[in-house]
Amino acid sequence: MSEQITLDEAIYNCRAMRKIKPETIPEEKLIRLIDAANQAPSGSNSQRARWVVVRDPEIKKKLSDQNRKHGEPYIAEDVKNPKNAKQKRLLEAVVWQMDHMHEIPALIVACFEYPEKVEGIHVYRQAGSVWPGIQNLLLTARALGLGAAPTTLSLRDQGAIRDILNLPDTFAALCLIPVGYPMGKFGPVTRKPVSDIMRFDTWD
Ligand SMILES: Cc1cc2nc3c(=O)[nH]c(=O)nc-3n(C[C@H](O)[C@H](O)[C@H](O)COP(=O)(O)O)c2cc1C
Repeated sequence: MSEQITLDEAIYNCRAMRKIKPETIPEEKLIRLIDAANQAPSGSNSQRARWVVVRDPEIKKKLSDQNRKHGEPYIAEDVKNPKNAKQKRLLEAVVWQMDHMHEIPALIVACFEYPEKVEGIHVYRQAGSVWPGIQNLLLTARALGLGAAPTTLSLRDQGAIRDILNLPDTFAALCLIPVGYPMGKFGPVTRKPVSDIMRFDTWD
């Protein structure tokens, strides 16, 4: 299960892959993804990121219902009137994911375990100690030929997610990543040129 692509190939070709086949992923690949995520840095090396890999159809359906509940109103206006062809394509994939999320073989929920109960905006306080692991997971998925995409809309109701996943109230669920073999082809990401987003020393 060694990765046969370079780091650059992974970084520059790690698009959000939303259309995923229902085919099962071998368990060792799922464990490999979490092991890679677990190598990421965290504040004070707290190592409080936690990962729930959901394969159970009933639990996937409940998460998928949350995604529709919060995602559908969020995109409704743009689905009716997409701003351009690119946005139309993106939304078509988001709607596909909404309709098929429960069939995707694994829904990985990235969490942070606080030492105390957390609510409201405090849920996101330590999100920076989870996202490096999420990026490790996405790059490793790419290297293993697995499609994945980070999502957050599905997790807007932390209480509902805690109930679905039996999470203690010290847990924040920060990202849901559907993972599986992609239907489409991997390809390069499209980003602004570095000259637009970087300056040396000071901004002006
Ligand atoms: C913090 C964060 C939250 C995101 N939330 C969602 C989401 O709720 N639903 C979704 O379909 N994609 C979500 N995405 C994926 C982005 O839409 C995607 O990464 C972006 O459009 C770039 O896509 P590309 O890498 O294919 O070019 C999220 C990405 C990030 C980093």
